[in-house]
Amino acid sequence: MEEVKDHIESKTKSGKKGEVVIEVKGLKKGFGDKEVLKNINLTVKRGENVVVLGRSGQGKSVTIQCIVGMLTPDEGSVKVFGEEVPELSDEDLKEMRTKMGFLFQGAALFDSMTVKENLEFPLTRVLKLKDQADIDKRIEEVLESVGLPDSGDKMPSDLSGGMRKRIGLARTLVVNPEIMLYDEPTTGLDPITSREISQLILEVQKKYKTASIIITHDMECAKLTADQVLVMDDGEYIAEGTFEELQKSDNELVKSFFNDIK
Ligand SMILES: Nc1ncnc2c1ncn2[C@@H]1O[C@H](COP(=O)(O)OP(=O)(O)O)[C@@H](O)[C@H]1O
Ligand SMILES: [Mg+2]
Repeated sequence: MEEVKDHIESKTKSGKKGEVVIEVKGLKKGFGDKEVLKNINLTVKRGENVVVLGRSGQGKSVTIQCIVGMLTPDEGSVKVFGEEVPELSDEDLKEMRTKMGFLFQGAALFDSMTVKENLEFPLTRVLKLKDQADIDKRIEEVLESVGLPDSGDKMPSDLSGGMRKRIGLARTLVVNPEIMLYDEPTTGLDPITSREISQLILEVQKKYKTASIIITHDMECAKLTADQVLVMDDGEYIAEGTFEELQKSDNELVKSFFNDIK
């Protein structure tokens, strides 16, 4: 469908900040007789970081999987770049995903490839780029962005956990995504590395003007990165606001997330 492609392509970086990029309304999703998402309503705008807090097993990852078209909603509307995701053809879905970046927990690099080869992979396989000078330039730029210039010839096993996470982020950023989906980006990292990754999420937002969803338990990460915070419980969002607004909430569950934060 040429129309969809044109539509997606017209929403490039020059698009206005504040334009709605992800719009979810009345989303329901269950597995068997288990209702997981009951009524999810979510809007993410260009240049905005939305943080989702919630206990484990609440359906935070399922929400993201509905947004990227990996899972089909039972009910409701899931729009990305103005298009209903479940209605996209396989080809249009693929096209849409080239505009999205993911940083999932435990996202692995290819161990047998150098850092540079890991970064080349999405450029040659997803974007189908052929011009080696262009490829090299993009890789150089993105390694600079994540603060690891000159690491191209290293093997993943030569890198620390935090550095591997950075390269994982670089591999996602190298295709210039308009949407970034971070699923527990700092889980399993030490506090210092966690802070570095949170800082990087903020830099990515500034530099790439991405619309981002950040699922996290890490309140420092939330505090640093969030424009909006959503608290998920029992299949829906029970609170929404800025970090500072939610910090003053009377709701017991919301309070429990903010307990350890000054
Ligand atoms: N593909 C699937 N098939 C069946 N159940 C699933 C599937 N994906 C997730 N679930 C269930 O949905 C619930 C929410 O999962 P998830 O979104 O991963 O939670 P979290 O909020 O921790 O990210 C869990 O009970 C999980 O077992
Ligand atoms: Mg999850």
